[in-house]
Amino acid sequence: MAESAKHRLQAISSQLSSPLPPIVKVAPESNTLRVAGKVIIITGVNSILGIGRASAHQFAQNGAKAVYLCDFDDSNLEAHKQEINASWPAVDIHTRQFDAGDDKAVQAVVDDAMQRYGRLDVFFANAGTVGPMAPFTDVDADEFMDTMRVNSLSVFLAAKHAAPAMKKTSPEKPTASGSIIATASVAGLRSNAGSTPYSASKAAAVSLAQTIAFQLAGTGIRMNALCPGLIETGMTAPVFAAARARGTQKKIGQLNPLGRGGHADEIARVALFLGSDESSYVNGQAWAVDGGLSAGHPFVPGKMA
Ligand SMILES: NC(=O)c1ccc[n+]([C@@H]2O[C@H](COP(=O)([O-])OP(=O)(O)OC[C@H]3O[C@@H](n4cnc5c(N)ncnc54)[C@H](O)[C@@H]3O)[C@@H](O)[C@H]2O)c1
Repeated sequence: MAESAKHRLQAISSQLSSPLPPIVKVAPESNTLRVAGKVIIITGVNSILGIGRASAHQFAQNGAKAVYLCDFDDSNLEAHKQEINASWPAVDIHTRQFDAGDDKAVQAVVDDAMQRYGRLDVFFANAGTVGPMAPFTDVDADEFMDTMRVNSLSVFLAAKHAAPAMKKTSPEKPTASGSIIATASVAGLRSNAGSTPYSASKAAAVSLAQTIAFQLAGTGIRMNALCPGLIETGMTAPVFAAARARGTQKKIGQLNPLGRGGHADEIARVALFLGSDESSYVNGQAWAVDGGLSAGHPFVPGKMA
């Protein structure tokens, strides 16, 4: 018998013989596939360095039944599909090209998942744009609204169309459940991590998670916002490249107590947790994943203990 099977048997028999009441557990064990059988939609997946791609890998590796890779730019989607298929052939991978702020297109991808699988378990609304990098007085109304459309309306539409689908039950999924995850940002929590339109759009994503979580009371569907700090992705690659070119890369992330920038996979791990039943009691929250940046007050590096 394999060592792991022996350990499981030992654990079960010691639980059966224990005089203590069993621990109530909502989720399956964490050392198994963590999203086994779930149908998952992710937006903003095309970028090679991005949080979306890294998350698709985590969900596929953890036993998802199907993962939809969505982006308005489809230049890499087929390559992502092939890569995931090669590593985890049991997972159905679908690619879809659409704008995450397009109401009908978001409805269509949810409908497709329901027609094929009769269930939707996770919608990770991750697509985002950095928006105009300018002082607020130089931003015109269209630029502001476009940032809101991509970063906030997309989250609203994801929740609007995913929630009714997640309510559907079947013999395979006897209880309604689902996890809607929005990629917000530490910029949505307070100042100094992005432009005014970007920060406002991410604050809206946090607010959507808070208000929608309450409107979904009693449905078994949860909604949370994930708030990354500075992560090396397609969006921030120029910042990292410029610092490397200047030899100042050590300064990246100097304001957070880990003293470094983050990797896309470090956000993907949290998306996996929020998408899995292991986070069954996590709801309506803004989860900062920022190396500790948002835990502190502003300070001058080197001046404090
Ligand atoms: N990288 C960071 O430091 C950081 C920090 C906080 C939050 N975020 C957020 O993380 C999310 C993922 O970004 P990333 O850092 O992986 O950057 P990225 O640029 O690598 O990936 C973003 C992806 O979103 C796609 N996208 C943009 N607009 C879209 C639209 N309208 N419809 C569909 N797809 C669209 C892009 O094509 C790209 O593939 C974004 O919401 C971003 O705002 C990133």
